[in-house]
Amino acid sequence: MVRAAILGTGSVAPSRAVTNRDLEDRMDTSDAWITQRTGIRERRIGLPTEKWSDFMLPACRIALETAGVGPEEIGLIVAGTMTADMRMPSGGCVLQEGLGAVNAAAFDVSSACSGFVYGLTIADRFIRAEPDLKVLVAGGDMLSPWIDWGDRSTAVLFGDGGGAAVLAASDDPDRGILSSRIRSDGTLGRLLTIAGDGSQLAFGDKPEMGNRKIRMIGAELFKVAVRSMETVCGEVLAEAGLTDEDVDIVVPHQANLRMIQALADRFGVSMDRVFVNVDRYGNTSAGTIPLALDEAVRAGRVRRGDVVLMPVFGGGLTWGATLVRW
Ligand SMILES: CC(C)(COP(=O)(O)OP(=O)(O)OC[C@H]1O[C@@H](n2cnc3c(N)ncnc32)[C@H](O)[C@@H]1OP(=O)(O)O)[C@@H](O)C(=O)NCCC(=O)NCCS
Repeated sequence: MVRAAILGTGSVAPSRAVTNRDLEDRMDTSDAWITQRTGIRERRIGLPTEKWSDFMLPACRIALETAGVGPEEIGLIVAGTMTADMRMPSGGCVLQEGLGAVNAAAFDVSSACSGFVYGLTIADRFIRAEPDLKVLVAGGDMLSPWIDWGDRSTAVLFGDGGGAAVLAASDDPDRGILSSRIRSDGTLGRLLTIAGDGSQLAFGDKPEMGNRKIRMIGAELFKVAVRSMETVCGEVLAEAGLTDEDVDIVVPHQANLRMIQALADRFGVSMDRVFVNVDRYGNTSAGTIPLALDEAVRAGRVRRGDVVLMPVFGGGLTWGATLVRW
């Protein structure tokens, strides 16, 4: 059986760090509130002169270098993002040009925070169908232009950053993606939106600035997120014939430490088997898992043969999980 293995990863975030104390100067919030409710201590926010590809391109270059794969060997680029440099060309095509990945087809997947896991799932299916294909999956967002700095209930949560992974068919039948599933529920889309930025606006209408920003019903989202991720984790493990005890490390979506703890709790996995970096980046949307995965690999927390579980949840609503033997 052909399995898609992750050959290399890379990640980059803008260099400007914004701490909770910095936010205290901008809005009615406190370091104590943010830390207790979310586990976030700081996040990276791009400068007004920076754009998505300024961090995504270097992240992709690191992933290619780590994988030992040249850009011209890549046959497909899947960019999980909703905040690429512009509406057209796609982020995937911008990456293709910047990398010199002349033989790749490229496109974006718009599934909010779930973009990277959606991308891994697409790569898995493509590689199983075309075992010679090498795929670059990028995941990252620059949400800062859509943050309403007057809304403390969302402004403290998000940051900019992302990462990438290079995948190819594995020679070792035990190594690679064991199972990967994606799910959506558009009926609950209203819980997390950036609404006033699309074709629903009548021609010539000036969008209300407020509608162009992130809006969220946080408490409801929290519950749905934990429940959905728990279910899909069970599904990918069952499909692989494994149980939670077989998982060496969980690299979950980094939206909120309490959400990660609740998932680990319900799932019966102790926190020492969970990788967390939400304290330093906040919620980078499609960037959270590739940023965390890359850091976990470089820190030696993910080793060859380890079973790695990556659950995610995001706007749409969308969710999913990828289970990999490293
Ligand atoms: C956003 C979240 C941290 C809020 O935590 P919560 O415990 O639900 O807090 P609430 O929204 O009930 O607000 C509690 C109080 O804190 C206040 N508050 C909200 N944001 C605040 C902030 N940044 N600083 C200080 N106080 C804040 C609220 O106004 C409210 O005050 P009130 O009781 O006087 O009305 C939590 O709901 C959450 O993490 N949800 C999931 C969000 C998420 O991860 N979304 C992305 C998924 S991909």
